[in-house]
Amino acid sequence: TQRRITTRDVRARKGAEPLVVLTAYTAPIARLLDPVCDILLVGDSLGMVVYGLETTLAVTLEMMIAHGRAVVNASQKACVVIDLPFASYQESPAQAFRNAARVMAETGCAAVKLEGGGEMAETIAFLVERGVPVMGHVGLMPQAVHTAGGFRAQGRSEDEAARIRADARAVAEAGAFAVVVEGTVEPVARALTGEIAIPTIGIGASAACDGQVLVIDDVLGLFDDFTPKFVKRYADLGPTIRAAAEAYAAEVRARTFPGPEHCFGLPRKESC
Ligand code: KIV
Ligand code: NA
Repeated sequence: TQRRITTRDVRARKGAEPLVVLTAYTAPIARLLDPVCDILLVGDSLGMVVYGLETTLAVTLEMMIAHGRAVVNASQKACVVIDLPFASYQESPAQAFRNAARVMAETGCAAVKLEGGGEMAETIAFLVERGVPVMGHVGLMPQAVHTAGGFRAQGRSEDEAARIRADARAVAEAGAFAVVVEGTVEPVARALTGEIAIPTIGIGASAACDGQVLVIDDVLGLFDDFTPKFVKRYADLGPTIRAAAEAYAAEVRARTFPGPEHCFGLPRKESC
């Protein structure tokens, strides 16, 4: 078997071949995506797409650890990164280390991701110096939805553009190995990608980034509570799943499923 892609490998991809990243929350999806992706991100977006919550704020460390372990165990090649959920790291570097260390130790993942710019630089350095690789996340930060006043594209004003660029620089200088740039206007994403030494992974941040990430449920057409402009749907599995359930329901009602081939204790036929 192939060795796993490391955070060092990811870091070395700056300005080279684009990094391919998708979210994964479960073993079967991780198994399918592992050969295709450089990084599997166990995002706290699972709160919305798997648990049906309205924001990511109610996601817990226990949820991230349970799903993270499933994804690590079901993958072999990809670098697995797990989101630190809201309120598990913002309080202090010590709190962040305690919770990040639990995530690392209990899942076997390669790194954690946390949202924030300059205000998180001290925490990122604290973690990295103590053996926890960190992926940053700047621009649109879903855990800050209430202070930001909703989900909207970032960097349209000059002040906002300057702040996001400073955030990305702070995260890179603090020792993060890569940074997600979410929901950020193209000129800002392009500028900050050019001025920091680590790969940028864009979501709604243009092709100027060093890689791209999407939420797998969006890609597969399994989540349509709302669809941001930056989502591209590569499959529409909803109707396929509904049709399978309907075929099953019809056969149960007609007593054509289960057939003899699915039953225990029936006389053997030639085909068995
Ligand atoms: O939670 C998540 O899935 C994320 C990605 C969209 C970057 O943070
Ligand atoms: Na996230």
